[in-house]
Amino acid sequence: MTSKNSKNTLTHGTGNEKNLYIGVDLGTNHTAISTSDGKKNTILSLVGTPRDPVASKFLKKEHLYGEEALKHRVALKLLRPVENGLIKNQKEDIEAAKGLLEYVLHSVNGDREIKKYAIIGVPAQASVLNKKIILDMASEFFDGMMVASEPFCVAYMMGQLEHSLIVDIGAGTTDLCRVHGTLPDPEDQITSIRAGNFIDREFVRLISESYTDVRVTQEMAKKWKEQYSFVGEAEKEIIVDVPVDSSFLKLPITKEMKEACESILPDIVAGISKLISTYDPDFQDALRNNIWLAGGGSQIKNLAQVLEQRLELIGGARVQNFKDPVFGGAEGALKLALDMPEEFWHTA
Ligand SMILES: Nc1ncnc2c1ncn2[C@@H]1O[C@H](COP(=O)(O)OP(=O)(O)OP(=O)(O)O)[C@@H](O)[C@H]1O
Ligand SMILES: [Mg+2]
Repeated sequence: MTSKNSKNTLTHGTGNEKNLYIGVDLGTNHTAISTSDGKKNTILSLVGTPRDPVASKFLKKEHLYGEEALKHRVALKLLRPVENGLIKNQKEDIEAAKGLLEYVLHSVNGDREIKKYAIIGVPAQASVLNKKIILDMASEFFDGMMVASEPFCVAYMMGQLEHSLIVDIGAGTTDLCRVHGTLPDPEDQITSIRAGNFIDREFVRLISESYTDVRVTQEMAKKWKEQYSFVGEAEKEIIVDVPVDSSFLKLPITKEMKEACESILPDIVAGISKLISTYDPDFQDALRNNIWLAGGGSQIKNLAQVLEQRLELIGGARVQNFKDPVFGGAEGALKLALDMPEEFWHTA
């Protein structure tokens, strides 16, 4: 079915439209939402349900979402419904994802009585089945919706629709996508599971190899990474405090941080090389000079420069950082929703 509503006359943020357009980035780590009346929000993609009746009474809620769920995690059964960028295909995960979507929608007043049209960003290589799960899961909230490749949404946001290559480094996946004016085809996209969570796991492994009697959790590793991540040359030594017995141990972790962060580089370099070498030869130079890093992982220090150095082997490249790693995907999905021709809408 196709939407009957005219929308192309709308402008972003006027606040008095008769339809609401929505962009959603349902990520492994975070869920971001942007609406055509200028609202936006992001929460951790985390859903908690009280472990027992005592927890339920104390928390006074049947479900907790995002940061609130993380805060009360000891009293909760926690679900991360999105894994490696995809909603898990279990009933409880689909229900949790639905709850998450309802929650963020409510947080931007998007559950009021108004026609709603949404674009939901999915990883570059989401399967037909996964797209269907998302469309089914979200159908009760929207009058029309479609899924779109997340890196394409980022390219759309930047207005880089011709000969650009987006490298979206998330928590579960790194998605590479070549953009050339149309919606991307499967051969334009490459996904690697070497992304933020992979770095955290590597980091924990490397630290426990170097310091056999120190116990570091993945949460600790993630926190240190978000503070000090880098590739290439270290600017200064990184030393962190690790709790041991009743005091703290000062642990130098520069080498481990570098190695963990650099563990995602080979797949990115190989993916970029492949997407350039299989592109129309007339436009390969344009593509290699228009590479953009997006997603939370793009904040790793020196990443663009080190990628440029490694890409010298295949004739050089220009790599730049996209300025909004948190809302880029959701804002791009919203922009696409506002511009989409009617026949693209799937309706409930
Ligand atoms: N300063 C930083 N340096 C390195 N990594 C960071 C930094 N800040 C955030 N990250 C990492 O970015 C990742 C989250 O990125 P993002 O929010 O784009 O993921 P997502 O969209 O939820 O995941 P996916 O796209 O895989 O579904 C996490 O692994 C987080 O630890
Ligand atoms: Mg993402």
